[in-house]
Amino acid sequence: MLSCLADYFKGRIMKLDIDFVRTQFSQLDDEPEFVFAANAGGSYICNQVNNLMEHYNRHTRVQPYSRFSPSHEAGEAMDRAKQLWADALNIDLSELTIGPSTSMNTYVIAQAIGAGWQSGDEIIVTNQDHEANSGVWRRKAEEKDVTIRQWSVDTDTGLLDVEQLLPLLNDKTRWVFFTHCSNIVGTANPVEEITSQVKANTKAKVFVDAVAYAPHHISDLKALGVDGYAFSLYKVFGPHQGLLYVNSDIYSNLTSQVHYFLAGNPAKDFNPAGPQHAQVAACAGVIDYFDALHQHHFGETNARVTDKMIDLSGLIQQHENELAAPLLDFLADHKDIRLIGKPDTNDDDRAPTIAFKPLKQSSQSLVYQLQDAGIGTENGDFYAHRLVTDLGIDPDDGVVRLSLVHYNQQADVDKIIRELDKAVN
Ligand SMILES: Cc1ncc(COP(=O)(O)O)c(C=O)c1O
Repeated sequence: MLSCLADYFKGRIMKLDIDFVRTQFSQLDDEPEFVFAANAGGSYICNQVNNLMEHYNRHTRVQPYSRFSPSHEAGEAMDRAKQLWADALNIDLSELTIGPSTSMNTYVIAQAIGAGWQSGDEIIVTNQDHEANSGVWRRKAEEKDVTIRQWSVDTDTGLLDVEQLLPLLNDKTRWVFFTHCSNIVGTANPVEEITSQVKANTKAKVFVDAVAYAPHHISDLKALGVDGYAFSLYKVFGPHQGLLYVNSDIYSNLTSQVHYFLAGNPAKDFNPAGPQHAQVAACAGVIDYFDALHQHHFGETNARVTDKMIDLSGLIQQHENELAAPLLDFLADHKDIRLIGKPDTNDDDRAPTIAFKPLKQSSQSLVYQLQDAGIGTENGDFYAHRLVTDLGIDPDDGVVRLSLVHYNQQADVDKIIRELDKAVN
């Protein structure tokens, strides 16, 4: 995930202070014995976000952006959140939309992008994606008589191979849509490499779903070189909002999706729902949390938010690798389990989003046993319906998914392995 991880830690001995991390999430105190391992469905919210949300609702709950107080303060709180996220992603404020969810954001941006497609154009989608970054594009392509090419996974591992993408590219390719990290396979796709291959061979644009990636690493989007990027803050310790990046270079080719008299403002054009005020303001809390985490480990600094994210990614990834490794070992070695995705974290590209299929019992029966033992986990296709089906797995029962984030601790993994050992038969 962070290719420079080894260099980064050279000469430093630093570990994520998990005790500090856990003080920042009050929900972790509710049931100390409970292990939350369904984070990919939605994470706990950090205290900074809850505080901002409460402050907004208690003190500035009026239509924002008027001159009177507290309307003025409400607008300022929303602007602060937008600016902090634009800085974190290293993008311009005008390139950021904060909308209701990623499914809604991709739906809307598909109308804006697809309006310019013509019969004979081609797009590339995968069968690894969550449906939010697949169905909207496929539907729009069918509507416009655009050819859909599928970049397909290896049906044993669920992994995508960049070599398989190249023959699909040609001078008719308009867009390539893929995921930064599958919410089932858990391996990060090399976005920078894929994007540069696409751009070297075609004039096509690239759109990436980072919903399953962002909880582990916030990316510098200019460094990635993508044209569109989306993820959901309710999986990144924040409120139920989706962030959408649209590169300003392509803005003039897109059709506004808002009332005609609002059109022409890139930060509004792709959110016909309008902003959810308190939630938008509270988005700042995620960055405040990362800032506190950075200060705790690295001291006071004037570093750019993007650079702080890179520092934190190193710490977080090391911790998450340590969580994932014993669980992957257990699952990969078990004769009655089919592990999906890579069996180790050796390449530093494996999120602790770990899915598997028990071979001698249903996923649901195993999940019920884990839930009864105090482990929050689920089974299903997790809306990656095409992927689960193409892996030869019944999407109704689906896979068991254990998804961890950096506030999980070693004791959680010990308990998961202990209970799995009892429950798998
Ligand atoms: C990989 C991935 N993409 C997209 C989505 C859709 O996000 P949202 O729930 O914000 O619509 C999800 C949600 O689970 C997801 O895991």
